[in-house]
Amino acid sequence: MVNNSKNVPYYAFGEGSLAGLGTLLAERAKSRGGRCIFFVDHFFQGRSLVRDLPVEEGDTLFFVSTVDEPTTDGINEYYSAITAKYHELPSAIVGIGGGCTLDTAKAVSNLLTNGGKAEDYQGWDLVKVPGVYKVGVPTISGTGAESSRTCVLTNRRKNLKLGMNSEHTIFDQLILDPALPVTVPRNQYFYTGMDTYIHCIESLNGSHRHAVGDSFSREALALSREVFGSADMQNRANVERLMVASYLGGCAIANSYVGVVHPLSAGLSTVLKIHHGLANCLVMNVMEDFYPKETDEFHRYMEDQGVDLPSGVTGNLDDDGFARLYESTIIHEKPLVNALGAEYRAILTRERASEIFRRI
Ligand SMILES: [Fe+2]
Repeated sequence: MVNNSKNVPYYAFGEGSLAGLGTLLAERAKSRGGRCIFFVDHFFQGRSLVRDLPVEEGDTLFFVSTVDEPTTDGINEYYSAITAKYHELPSAIVGIGGGCTLDTAKAVSNLLTNGGKAEDYQGWDLVKVPGVYKVGVPTISGTGAESSRTCVLTNRRKNLKLGMNSEHTIFDQLILDPALPVTVPRNQYFYTGMDTYIHCIESLNGSHRHAVGDSFSREALALSREVFGSADMQNRANVERLMVASYLGGCAIANSYVGVVHPLSAGLSTVLKIHHGLANCLVMNVMEDFYPKETDEFHRYMEDQGVDLPSGVTGNLDDDGFARLYESTIIHEKPLVNALGAEYRAILTRERASEIFRRI
């Protein structure tokens, strides 16, 4: 078996590049037929970005609520709505927003050509055929959703947060326009941006290494450090830097695994519905035992950027709540093996995980 890697084949980068979306979609529609489906972060409802989008008659635009992260049920509902409205496949799916919206676009694209239910494809390499041609337009940086090979979905019935990890999940085209993330609120910018930093330090501290993945990670980490170590993380140059870091960080995880932070963070998201960026930061804040240098660095960035975190997040949980947190953490075998080795259960025991969660 050849261990093949794939990254996004096409990307347009630069301020104002979103203006080229209409041309891309028109060319696609001419050669393939079918309508275009837009998934846009609900934050943009009523804003000029939406008014300027190249939505043609017969196309569909969904505003994606980001109150909760995408669920398998939510993806199944989009699938039903699209297949009920159209008799042919769309010419393109466009996702415009943060990780939630981009992941929604990716998952719907996969489901439209593979059929069945979203939950059938949660795992590694379960998607059989390429999805509908999809374009990603990130409006906040950090998750790497724009360039990664996964789209993370919560399956409420199984108490499971897991992506459709497949080369077919990768976008066919990206538009990386640094003019878009300029309106992101300060805390959100930090929490989401830190996702890239955390991906990279987890990968580089892990045992599953890949020379190309490491290079992507090192550069993404260097850019993140420039951004969060500077006086103003949100100036124009830093917004652009973070967009590049996020893209490279997403490319890196195609060849690597995350570590201890992401499984614990997934536990918080699954049980307490805390969004990914914030959940990561809550965990990173108490990672002295696993990533001591990086935890210090993280504390420094929080202080320098004047960003704070909620406290007492797990304060109301009972024993059953902590048990669910542990179960939805320890299920993430690949990253935990990457970080702690095959005997990870003996290291991240139920008691130790609970002790970490109690400090959050
Ligand atoms: Fe992440």
